Amino acid sequence: MMKKLMMCVLMAVAFGQGSAQTQENRELFIYSPNERGGLHVACYDNGQWNEMGQLCSSDYGQWGAEKRMYHPSVCRAQDGTWRLVFQLNDRTPAFAAAYSRDLITWRPQDYPQVSERPCLEPIVFEGVDGQFDVYYKTANGQKRYLPASNDFRRFGKDEPSQIDEDAWLRDTATVQGKLYEGCKFEVSVQEVLALARHFDELAADGRKSSERMHDDAKNLAWLTSPVKATLTVGTQEKTISDKLIGIFFEDISYAADGGLYAELVQNRDFEYNSKDRREWNATTAWHSSKPIEISTEHPLSPNNPHYALLWSDMLWNEGWDGITVEAGKKYDFSMYVLAGGQKQDFVIQLVGEDGTLLAKSKLKTNASDWTQYTTVLTAKKSDPKARLVIIPQKAAHVGVDMISLFPQETFMNRKNGLRRDLAQVIADLHPKFIRFPGGCMSHGQGLENIYHWNHTVGPLQDRKPDFNIWGYHQTRGLGFFEFFQYCEDIGAEPLPVLAAGVPCQNSAANAEGMGGQQGGIPMDQMPAYIQELLDLIDWANGDPATSRWAKMRAEAGHPEPFNLKYIGIGNEDIIGTVFEERYEMICKAIRQRYPNIMICGTVGPFHTPSADYIEGWEFTRKHPDLQYMVDEHYYESTGWFMHHRNYYDSYPRTLADGKPSPKVYLGEYAASTNVKRPNVETALAEAIYLTDVERNGDIVEMTSYAPMLSKDGHSNWNPDMIYFGNTSVRTTPAYEVQRLFSVYGGDRYISSEMKVKDAAGNFELSHRLAASLVRVTKTGRKYLKIVNALPVSLQLSINGLTIPAGSKCEGFEGKPEEQQLQMNTFEVQGSEIELPAYSMRAIEIN
Ligand code: AHR
Repeated sequence: MMKKLMMCVLMAVAFGQGSAQTQENRELFIYSPNERGGLHVACYDNGQWNEMGQLCSSDYGQWGAEKRMYHPSVCRAQDGTWRLVFQLNDRTPAFAAAYSRDLITWRPQDYPQVSERPCLEPIVFEGVDGQFDVYYKTANGQKRYLPASNDFRRFGKDEPSQIDEDAWLRDTATVQGKLYEGCKFEVSVQEVLALARHFDELAADGRKSSERMHDDAKNLAWLTSPVKATLTVGTQEKTISDKLIGIFFEDISYAADGGLYAELVQNRDFEYNSKDRREWNATTAWHSSKPIEISTEHPLSPNNPHYALLWSDMLWNEGWDGITVEAGKKYDFSMYVLAGGQKQDFVIQLVGEDGTLLAKSKLKTNASDWTQYTTVLTAKKSDPKARLVIIPQKAAHVGVDMISLFPQETFMNRKNGLRRDLAQVIADLHPKFIRFPGGCMSHGQGLENIYHWNHTVGPLQDRKPDFNIWGYHQTRGLGFFEFFQYCEDIGAEPLPVLAAGVPCQNSAANAEGMGGQQGGIPMDQMPAYIQELLDLIDWANGDPATSRWAKMRAEAGHPEPFNLKYIGIGNEDIIGTVFEERYEMICKAIRQRYPNIMICGTVGPFHTPSADYIEGWEFTRKHPDLQYMVDEHYYESTGWFMHHRNYYDSYPRTLADGKPSPKVYLGEYAASTNVKRPNVETALAEAIYLTDVERNGDIVEMTSYAPMLSKDGHSNWNPDMIYFGNTSVRTTPAYEVQRLFSVYGGDRYISSEMKVKDAAGNFELSHRLAASLVRVTKTGRKYLKIVNALPVSLQLSINGLTIPAGSKCEGFEGKPEEQQLQMNTFEVQGSEIELPAYSMRAIEIN
């Protein structure tokens, strides 16, 4: 249908060359087919309305419950630009407002708050002064009015209006056999053509992006083996980022508590509650023969108000799907006790699933006020599903809190440390940086759940736990000190990412009924929030002799500064007015106080041509002084990655004024197929794309695959880079690609060109072949990475580079659907390399 329409319009223009027909107008009908369908456009042609495509959709509030568009009202301004308002739902005191120059690109939506709840059927008209008038109805049918600025970003206070009901009269049209209400406009043929081209391009892109290696047997049966190609190494070199491969750590899918954080006791602080998960409470994961008594009287810390009140019954903790106990290993047990000066002894045990006693120790207590007691348990036997048992030795009322059990063998044997196997497998990636603590977890579910770094440092009992946007609990035991320390331990730059004064745009409604960004942190509270961000830099880098924050760091065991260089502000936010105002304030304050700190902004959750991406980059390039780089996110199909290899080629390196452009941090990305697990197909697509990222390593500063960790049985998201259980760590093909690009990365890019032989350069599958040559300045070593995503082998002749005898080569091959890789290391030499079907090679050239 789209093709036919495009042809009709093109013919009208062609036949009408030089005649009045070139001036001919067309009629558009803008409407929403249903509340989840977003805003659509149809064009009148050949006596009927023809659907062209979707212009935009609602970005308001939670996925599932919200993201709906009711009663869209569109207005075309005298200057030809467009304004859109629509109703969000029947509860919220706000409407959606958006602006477009051409109907194709819409500015990210704003959600101006009004005084009445709900705000029904908003409509928009242009006033004589170039401003706009928005009217809406209240639940009891009253009409109200508010003015809007020409750029549709400032909205006045609403007041009663006497406007006639006729203002709500709408046009109708039958599109694809169904009658809809909407707005009709007369536009030029050129405008219709531009729309048609846009939808054609989207459709073509969609077709390419659906290419799957899995379908090769059917689609590429004609391909004969081997494909012969030449790789010609050029003479041009450029400096590229030496921090290209890092990691993104978010507490999603039990990545922190129950995951990387080695604490074995679940709900150690008795702070679980129904905000974490509806059915949870202070006793979740704890068991006793009688109901467990919980008290909040005279708590251990105001941030940790609940504790258990024991009498004579034993108390046991189930751990995180059981406690993994290994024979011969030692475990540090600790517990705070409040006993009003009475003596109480406890027996502490580790008991196997079948009741076998695995370890036992005694704890004598005599605490008048909260006192911490510790003991060490040595396991006599192993059990992956043990429990921790606390047995009071006499009947006496005793408060217990912060009941903790850690393996002594943590990563680098740190106290309050990380699970050794998981931390090591991450360290083996040799990540150049770690972004933490999220993701959506950084900006949180609503204003109250924004992550405050300063709630996560200091003594464990004083840290402020909170619910996790991913549907569980954050103890904050793995807090900023532990994150920074881990970065230091594995030689990665810390990249903390904190909210830009707005929560996650997918947040549920607050008490006022405002969902999404909820209007952002109120302006009168922004100075305090900004101070909090400045305090982080002071905490990380300051001098303990002069700074109270740095003193806190020193008291935690790190008097030397952490030498923080980067800070991320915002995570894939809607780049609306509420965001931009706050983001600018934050960046200005950081720049002023800490001019050397490199700020990383955000350009929303999707790649081009999404509204947030476009507006985000426009803002970034308009304010290059504010940020060093911006964070891009995209989760896409394997076909998309293979067909967008030139994504960064056209990014300007310098801006109009000659200043260097802010850089790119590709902070979250992953290729996926319908299987939703990393496999050889997704890994090869990522590897191909990463060769192009390396080629653009002068503008792309950092990348991190996302998400990184996922615990069996607790997954919020797929695919992930590493899957784990209590006793297992399973790396994926995605992990191996990240590792190869990290270990075989460099700081200089050497130009090279791959050409398929005998095919006159027209080989239509060249998006399936890739190579990248880099050099490390310090060592002079070169690394060549080659990817063959074809179903046949590749015979590659290399010109301009000879691989000396005994050169180390690491790589993998497999079938597209394989999820487990066998990595191979062998030696290669010469200038002829053969790669099997679906394979990758990384070669070290000394
Ligand atoms: O990586 C998982 C989630 O994806 C992140 O929390 C968020 O930033 C993105 O939407």
